Formats: sequence, C-alpha cells, structure tokens
Amino acid sequence: MNLAILTSGGDAPGMNAAIRGFVRRGLADGHTVFGIPRGFEGLIHAEPHTMTAASVANILMTGGTILKTSRFLDFHQVSIREMALDSLKRWQIDAVAVLGGNGSLAGANTLSESGFPIVGIPASIDNDIAGTDYSLGFDTAVNNIVSSIDKIRDTASSHERIFVVQVMGNRSGNLAIAAGLACGAEAIIIPEQSSDYASIEQRLLQTYARGKKHSFVIVAEGAGEAKTVAEELAQRTGREAKWAVLGHTQRGGPPTSHDRILAALFADKAVDLLTEGKGGFMVSLCSGSITSIPLVNVIHGQNQTLFHWQRLAELLAR
Ligand code: F6P
Repeated sequence: MNLAILTSGGDAPGMNAAIRGFVRRGLADGHTVFGIPRGFEGLIHAEPHTMTAASVANILMTGGTILKTSRFLDFHQVSIREMALDSLKRWQIDAVAVLGGNGSLAGANTLSESGFPIVGIPASIDNDIAGTDYSLGFDTAVNNIVSSIDKIRDTASSHERIFVVQVMGNRSGNLAIAAGLACGAEAIIIPEQSSDYASIEQRLLQTYARGKKHSFVIVAEGAGEAKTVAEELAQRTGREAKWAVLGHTQRGGPPTSHDRILAALFADKAVDLLTEGKGGFMVSLCSGSITSIPLVNVIHGQNQTLFHWQRLAELLAR
C-alpha cells in the first residue's frame, strides 16, 4: 500500500517518535510511506515526499515534528476537503495516519466519513482527548512543568513567597492537575470547576502557620491568568505573591521514555489498522492496553478528567 502520515495542530513531544515508528513499521511490512508536510494544509498547498528508514534517523529523541504542522481552519469548508481528497487520489495514497489533538481528529473524522481510510494517533500535551488514557506529549509536558517549578521553588522558598504558575491545557485542567500532584501544589485552579478563593486563602495561611517557606498555586490557562490570581491571593493573604507563565517551554524538548514508548506502540497499531483496511479509528491506550476506538466516538465523547487526582494533590500538600 501507499501509506502517508501528517502531523496537525499544536506540536507535541513524541510526534517524531511516532513518525519514525510509522515509517519503519510500514516499510517493514512492504508498504511505501509518504510524509505530508504542514498538516491538512499540506494536502492543498504541498506535495508528499517518500520517507525512508534513514529519513527518520535521529528523531526519536527530539521534540516538535519534522513534518511541520499547522492549524488549518479552512479545512472546515467542504470544498477544501474535496480538494484534499482529490490530492490524495492524484498522489495515489491509499490510507493516511493523522497525528494530532481534538481539532485534527475531527478533521480526520470528516475525511473518513467521505470513505477515505484514515486513522488518528492522539497527540496533545493537553491530554483532553476522549477514549485514551494518555495522548502523546502529555507526560513530557508534565515533566517540563515539574522541572520549571523545581527551579522556581528554590527562589520561592528563599523569599518565602506564594508562587502562582500558569500552565497550558487549552480548556482542560488535566495538565494542571497532573503537574500539581507531581509538584506538591497547595491549590490547583482548573476551568472545569469554579475557584473558591476563600478556601485557597485558608489553605495558604495554614501552610505558612505550619512553618512552610513557600507555596504553589497552579492555574490552568483555561481558568484564568496567573497575574490576576497572584494579585487576588496577595491581597487576601497579605503576603507577597509572584507569578510565572511557563508558555511554550512546556511543549518543547526531548520526549520522555513514556512518550517514546507510547509513540512506538501507537504507530505500530496504526499500521496494523490501515493494513487491515480499518479506517475511521483512533489508536488509544486503555487501562494499559493498546486498542482502537471509532473516531466518531472520540470527537463526540468526553475526555476522562483527572479530578480525583486534584483532591489528592491538595490533601497531600497540607
Ligand atoms: O493544544 C496544545 C496547546 O499547547 C494548548 O495547551 C495551548 O492552548 C495551545 O496549544 C497553544 O497553541 P499555539 O502554539 O498555537 O499558540
């Protein structure tokens, strides 16, 4: 078969590892594998290139995506999607793997509904995709946040300050919750729940009363801005509160071993599905097993939230 792969939406560490896995597994099965540059936009404005085992050498350990990516809003238009299907036909591509988050998987689903064989590979630092316990890049992003907060802790502790750290996550609090549990944050503010500042104030004051030298509040970007939260908490507690926005540092750097392994397993499953002619699925990790779920269920499903971790994180920080 002529298989192709593209990466779409925000890049996520582990995308390159998945490209490598898909190309080498595809070649091992006797397929020809193409890379389509710049996501869905590449189906309209670019040309695919043949990928070899050597073309994916030395990328396992790198962040970003060698195929480049884009957020291509024009893909919502039927006429643009028809042009994309024409390109795939002209290039004689038999099936495509799409690596990306919710928007990209929705794009993949619309192509699949037109009858084109396509599988999704969940990749987003937000871990906000329904039907999979983990998306590629989440583990690395959590580790990036932990590493930044470990550094901020030294200075926060020296000055006995409150620190409010804003993390990514789009409209999901999952990244904030996982980072909060891993960093021992006193409070985690997420978009899925309204924030109770009176209770956070009490928690912070109790923290200092117990002799702790610093405290951390993690705010998910979808819930508000670190600066506003820091000002509110400084006013309420009468203590100095500083803030930091970690921004795109969270999304870069070498993928963790967890993301590399998951990328290999996802890519392997994606080639299996396409070889068996099973389009319209997303590969997923479900309770420790690699499996697949219909794309339509992913885009209409609810992602699993990590609320239960939030309660534990705040309890353990007391
Ligand atoms: O979806 C991944 C993500 O990093 C979100 O957490 C964030 O809101 C968004 O992408 C940022 O996108 P961009 O890099 O296009 O500004």
